[in-house]
Amino acid sequence: MLRVGIIGTGDIANLNIQGYIHSQDTELVAVSDIDISNAGEKLERWGLRTVKIYTDFKKMIDHEDLDIIEILTPHHLHYPMTEYAAKAGIPGISVQKPLAHNITDCERMIKICEEENVKLKLFENFRFYPPYLKAKELLDNRIIGDPLSFRINTILTAGPSMPRGLKSLVWRIKVDTCGGGPLVYDDGIHKFSLALWLMDQKRVEKVYGWIDYFSSVMDAPSNIFWKYPSQNSDEAPKYGTMQFTMATNVYYPSNYYDCDEFIEISGTKGIMWLNQCTSGGNFVSKSPEHPPIVTYVDGEVKSYGKNLARDWRHSFINSTKHFIKVIKEGGTPIYTGEQGRDLCIFAKMPYISQQQKRTIYWNEITAENEQNQSCSVKQPVNLIEGGLSKYTRRAKSDLRKGIKQGLEHDIFKYQYEL
Ligand SMILES: NC(=O)c1ccc[n+]([C@@H]2O[C@H](COP(=O)([O-])OP(=O)(O)OC[C@H]3O[C@@H](n4cnc5c(N)ncnc54)[C@H](O)[C@@H]3O)[C@@H](O)[C@H]2O)c1
Repeated sequence: MLRVGIIGTGDIANLNIQGYIHSQDTELVAVSDIDISNAGEKLERWGLRTVKIYTDFKKMIDHEDLDIIEILTPHHLHYPMTEYAAKAGIPGISVQKPLAHNITDCERMIKICEEENVKLKLFENFRFYPPYLKAKELLDNRIIGDPLSFRINTILTAGPSMPRGLKSLVWRIKVDTCGGGPLVYDDGIHKFSLALWLMDQKRVEKVYGWIDYFSSVMDAPSNIFWKYPSQNSDEAPKYGTMQFTMATNVYYPSNYYDCDEFIEISGTKGIMWLNQCTSGGNFVSKSPEHPPIVTYVDGEVKSYGKNLARDWRHSFINSTKHFIKVIKEGGTPIYTGEQGRDLCIFAKMPYISQQQKRTIYWNEITAENEQNQSCSVKQPVNLIEGGLSKYTRRAKSDLRKGIKQGLEHDIFKYQYEL
């Protein structure tokens, strides 16, 4: 039985725990959080109230002889926690995305885990969402030929969604604890991951980013454009775009966060649309107009994946299952530290572009350039005190407006299940 410990029992711990609860090969032996009541509440909710709680993560690592550690804390803590766990010889370290708040820390994490012969995993769960796994299989079978362009829109809605503490937003809006903003950097890592993986690419060549700061705290609405590297001069150039849309008057029940994703991939032979991810399984998924995968090829429209699990939690369960297998049987984690770093590079590019008002090239985002300040993300200057409360107040009042307009599902029952 593999002994598992968790550092950070905040919002996402409810999802990261699920793969372990479902596993016959692991046992959660301890959790660590500086907020002991938070840790206690989570253990109660998971039915694991006898599991030990530490307020000092170092003591948990020193005393518990762990095989796997999950790091689920604000981004600036990922490196010091990984370093301590690696030096203590924990064989498997899983770090929630992004790998770190800057590239310097990413490089340090990769180095220390290599030196200590530890498997470092960047936990990026969208990559394991069942409809996306099916889409990738279809793309690899060249159903739409050679993919030419990738487009993803993340729509932020009014919810209702899972309850979240304000505390978890506070560190996200600060560049020195998050590494960027709550959307393009924090949430964006998932979307940049899909933009590379589904398009069968390892990096992009250049990026242009246009980021508005809504209510001065959220890094949206934003529009980001990039070009993939060309393999040879005969090949058609390939591009991608990403949008974050603030639609806080859209009434849109979700079991998790108040957002959803829509993707379109155009290829040399056809087009593929991917409907929903984070809020998958809500009433939109149940409409016949929104199967998870739709293709148009040779004059024919087809849909796929209607029987696949659409609830977002399956992406977490699958990702954890994969890591347990890697630790038990050997193999390479999805993602590796290097791939995790690359996603951080991609996610930093739009901010630097926004700041410097120019196209940014992949090779410019390095630890060295971070040190000499030529490519470090800066805190937006227009950040005002109270901006966060203003934003949440607006989202709440818009939601009430939506309900008054007579939209359905006005009595939302939180449907979270373990
Ligand atoms: N995969 C996803 O879809 C997804 C979604 C949300 C968050 N995340 C990631 O998960 C991580 C955590 O995010 P969250 O939303 O749960 O944040 P959160 O703020 O809800 O929780 C963070 C927890 O870490 C604890 N903590 C802070 N300092 C600590 C320390 N020194 N020792 C022990 N515990 C400490 C806090 O008390 C808090 O309980 C981040 O990396 C975030 O980007 C991933």
